[in-house]
Amino acid sequence: MKLIIAMIQPFKLEDVKKALFDAKIIKMSVSSALGCGQQAGYKEEYRGAATEINLLKKLRIEIAVNDEFVQPTIDAIIKGAKTGNIGDGKIFVTNLEECIRIRTGAKGKSAIG
Ligand SMILES: Nc1ncnc2c1ncn2[C@@H]1O[C@H](COP(=O)(O)OP(=O)(O)OP(=O)(O)O)[C@@H](O)[C@H]1O
Ligand SMILES: [Mg+2]
Repeated sequence: MKLIIAMIQPFKLEDVKKALFDAKIIKMSVSSALGCGQQAGYKEEYRGAATEINLLKKLRIEIAVNDEFVQPTIDAIIKGAKTGNIGDGKIFVTNLEECIRIRTGAKGKSAIG
């Protein structure tokens, strides 16, 4: 099991949701976030030395998946979120120890899927 965390541009949420839905991935958590990447929150054209971090509005998507869904999930997020410009976002993949469905007590693969 993996936990996929994607930081995306807010205006790309609908495209990402559609791409995930098309790949039959419908379980997700979405929250607002602030963040910056290697431009420290400034545009590429910015020529001055950044003296502070400029946090930009991003969306954080979290999706817990069984192993066979890792690549389809990554592919769908990229399909929906990519413009080709800086700031498109980033995807983090981490190992997930356990998942428990509160209603039934089901654990692991069946609880995620
Ligand atoms: N190393 C990191 N650790 C934590 N969060 C990160 C990291 N890199 C990026 N992020 C998050 O992802 C968001 C989008 O990052 P962004 O796409 O700007 O990455 P980048 O490395 O600067 O790539 P690019 O040059 O394409 O912009 C950031 O605003 C931040 O929320
Ligand atoms: Mg960036």
